[in-house]
Amino acid sequence: MTIVAATKESIDRAAKALAKGEIVAFPTETVYGLGANALNAAAVAKVFAAKDRPRFNPLIVHVLGEEEAEAYAAVNDTARKLIHAFWPGPLSLVLPRKSGCAIADLVSAGLDTIALRAPSNRIARALLEVAKLPIAAPSANRSGRISPTIAAHVEAELGSLPAMILDGGPCALGLESTVLGVDGDDVTLLRLGALPLEEIETVLGRKLARPEPGSHVSSPGQLATHYAPSTPLHLDARSAKRGEALLAFGPHAPEFAGPTINLSPRGDLVEAAANFFAALRTLDAAGVETIAVMPIPAHGLGEALNDRLKRASSPATIPVSAELP
Ligand code: TXA
Ligand code: MG
Repeated sequence: MTIVAATKESIDRAAKALAKGEIVAFPTETVYGLGANALNAAAVAKVFAAKDRPRFNPLIVHVLGEEEAEAYAAVNDTARKLIHAFWPGPLSLVLPRKSGCAIADLVSAGLDTIALRAPSNRIARALLEVAKLPIAAPSANRSGRISPTIAAHVEAELGSLPAMILDGGPCALGLESTVLGVDGDDVTLLRLGALPLEEIETVLGRKLARPEPGSHVSSPGQLATHYAPSTPLHLDARSAKRGEALLAFGPHAPEFAGPTINLSPRGDLVEAAANFFAALRTLDAAGVETIAVMPIPAHGLGEALNDRLKRASSPATIPVSAELP
């Protein structure tokens, strides 16, 4: 049985599982989350694999509060005001990543921003306190399905993919957190959620732009251009030339003397996903003309990897599909 009642003992075990790189489902006041150690890219890749996400949407990182947030993100006065008013609670803030931020690149899907939230649910907080880790957690459902608000829904969605499902009863709010982007003084609504906009507006002392009725609120995390490295990519490459870098995959990578990163020499797509954004960043900084990218199988997480690669190689021509979380 994957579902276990949340007790001091099971929370300890869940924290140990997270520290070992396993994934654990846990309750929050909004919905159940599927958590991984946000510092461990391989663990985060397991979350994407379990959810069967066709794309790498950036994930929310759960922390205890403002102090932990400041370890990873640049928290300005506007963000601090929102944090003081609404944390712990159902508000996620998308903030600039601090330089040297230890959170895995895969968590922010390669963006320079990071979504942070301090949950108020006492089991979520106990888990954060015992694990002493930032926990990256999307809702614990398969991609494209509704977020689970009881442990049994998590099991129906994910079966025994999580090492444990901590049962904390029904979620108090049952709706995902409201997501705001904070960029200097500008505050942008990225996702409607459990924290009403009026409350946010009262604290900010101004109105927020509402989405058009019926339209999707898009996260900048889903805009094509944000994924583009500045070096052009040459996809489906079988070899690399002088002046190029090689992003390889699998055991049959060509011999190449230039900068090379193999996403997974054993051809494992979960491992490749874990390495993907960091590898792109490194090769982008290598000062080459082109990055030659070997073909990546189109199944499992390969679908998301290929989607990202396509967006990164022709950002202007790929339409941005508005997508609900
Ligand atoms: O209530 C919640 O927020 C739940 C619980 C588990 O905390 N989590 C959740 O996560 O709903 P998820 O992954 O299903 O939704 C994350 C949302 C997506 O809309 C994503 O695009 C946005 O946050 N997001 C995360 N990081 C972002 C970033 N760096 N820039 C823009 N949007 C971001
Ligand atoms: Mg979700």
